[in-house]
Amino acid sequence: MMLEVVEIEINYGGINAVRGVSLGVEKGEIVTLVGANGAGKSSILHGIAGAEKLAGGTVSFEGKDITGNRAHNTAALGVSLVPEGRRIFGRMSVRENLEVGGCLKNPVAIKKGMEKAMSLFPVLKERARQEAGTLSGGEQQMLAIARGLMNEPKLLLLDEPSLGLSPLMEQAVFKVIAEIRRSGTTVLLVEQNANLALKISDRAYVVENGRIVLSGISGELLNDENIKKAYLGG
Ligand SMILES: Nc1ncnc2c1ncn2[C@@H]1O[C@H](COP(=O)(O)OP(=O)(O)OP(=O)(O)O)[C@@H](O)[C@H]1O
Ligand SMILES: [Mg+2]
Repeated sequence: MMLEVVEIEINYGGINAVRGVSLGVEKGEIVTLVGANGAGKSSILHGIAGAEKLAGGTVSFEGKDITGNRAHNTAALGVSLVPEGRRIFGRMSVRENLEVGGCLKNPVAIKKGMEKAMSLFPVLKERARQEAGTLSGGEQQMLAIARGLMNEPKLLLLDEPSLGLSPLMEQAVFKVIAEIRRSGTTVLLVEQNANLALKISDRAYVVENGRIVLSGISGELLNDENIKKAYLGG
């Protein structure tokens, strides 16, 4: 396993948001976490990325124990988190946002990463000098993903990339995720649109109340009656 999460726990004050979650991601996979609002999906991603403190359990990446690592150390090992809600720098240009994303790289690698990002997202090339806060929602999401790719991660953690997008932009984001995987980056995806997410992913885990309650091959979960009722609108 490229990523191995064993029995992690995350507490916020008295709230047990993540309760003994174990999951794994193989190199080259797209794996989806499905679950209702408040189930603990973002917390799990934050715990993996070192952005939230673990109250228990272990995380290992490429065989190295990274439990308790600070976020920047985890990023340096090749794990990028694209957080929910985009969090781009609105007053900075598109180009400057990408430069920040490449902060772990040298100038030559930043230039190369920028070219790669702009070929993956042509709209960002057209708008390289535009203030990021003036991009459309879909364009901002593209920028957030592109920024996450600037450090050339081996594993990309994507938190609700299609949230708030029009169906057309949503399709575009999913196309990009499939392309990212084709280019060799492994993806752990959190999505509200379980239908599309299960269609592009290899395996999935269902999170309820801080626990994994079901896991399996995405194509099989798509046809599971309980999953259909709970997450796919019948
Ligand atoms: N910083 C925090 N302080 C206190 N409680 C928190 C904090 N972050 C998350 N929680 C709580 O932990 C639980 C899990 O939240 P989390 O954001 O991980 O869920 P989620 O599955 O990502 O939900 P959503 O689909 O709405 O994004 C929720 O009950 C939430 O209110
Ligand atoms: Mg969330």
